[in-house]
Amino acid sequence: MIINIDNLAKKITENILKTSTKHKIKLTSVALNPEKPTLAYLNSQRKLAKKLHIDFDLIKLSSKNELLETIHILNNKNDVHGIFLAQPLPFDPFEIISKINPKKDIEGITPFNLGNLLYEKSYFKPCTADSVERILNDFTTLDGKKVTVIGRSVIVGRPVSILLSNSKNNATVTICHSHTKDLKEITLNSDIIVSAVGKADFITKEMVKKNTIIIDVGINFKNGELTGDVSPDVKEIAYVTEVPGGVGEITSLILFENLTKAL
Ligand SMILES: NC(=O)c1ccc[n+]([C@@H]2O[C@H](COP(=O)([O-])OP(=O)(O)OC[C@H]3O[C@@H](n4cnc5c(N)ncnc54)[C@H](OP(=O)(O)O)[C@@H]3O)[C@@H](O)[C@H]2O)c1
Repeated sequence: MIINIDNLAKKITENILKTSTKHKIKLTSVALNPEKPTLAYLNSQRKLAKKLHIDFDLIKLSSKNELLETIHILNNKNDVHGIFLAQPLPFDPFEIISKINPKKDIEGITPFNLGNLLYEKSYFKPCTADSVERILNDFTTLDGKKVTVIGRSVIVGRPVSILLSNSKNNATVTICHSHTKDLKEITLNSDIIVSAVGKADFITKEMVKKNTIIIDVGINFKNGELTGDVSPDVKEIAYVTEVPGGVGEITSLILFENLTKAL
């Protein structure tokens, strides 16, 4: 069973267009020595920007110093409303991320915006975590539900667990990682599973009870095909988001929606 995100995508798109057709908005993406997958992603970002009437600039750089200088310049440029930092970087990204102006941090990844998440006062939430929260709120109610989040990264697993357990959503969240023992026992006892692991076929039918809601955040390549973390046969018994066409699609839109809020 598929969790359809079309209505949610349509609503967010309409919301963006309301602002972008009236104001000139610009996203600038910066990438340090981007490789093929990053360039492919940035190309799709460019296409989506065009569809949404948003100006898009890509700046390719070749050193950490150039990256720091460029962030400094973009932070102070009035016609740049949002900065997207292409990742992964070949070093700990914290030094760069913490230099991004929080008002232009449309990815919601600066320490300022992540800190506000703990206070339930965030303006820009991390886009993927926001995407998971919105897909779930669109599909079900979270209050009192048992949610298992697999993965504890700073951009996905941790913010997802904070958002779903906040005083608006009221889910009971268990966060799991590679040191978690008896994962299957935990997932079998869950109403909702969010998988942000990055391993194809990681979630199998044996790990899931009937009618569980599964948000598949994973992006993997299996035999040259894009696939998530959830094995295809899980859909026979559970509700699952698609990859591609699920979390990733909503995440890309949320990035541009945040841009309209950065005006
Ligand atoms: N669709 C989107 O918008 C979007 C956005 C961002 C990322 N992604 C995708 O989501 C996936 C996760 O991304 P990420 O940046 O969070 O990756 P990450 O930093 O590599 O985190 C992966 C997490 O999975 C955990 N893990 C690995 N093996 C495990 C196991 N056997 N049992 C339980 N947990 C295990 C790791 O545990 P430890 O912490 O113990 O190592 C880690 O916390 C990737 O496929 C990525 O491409 C998608």
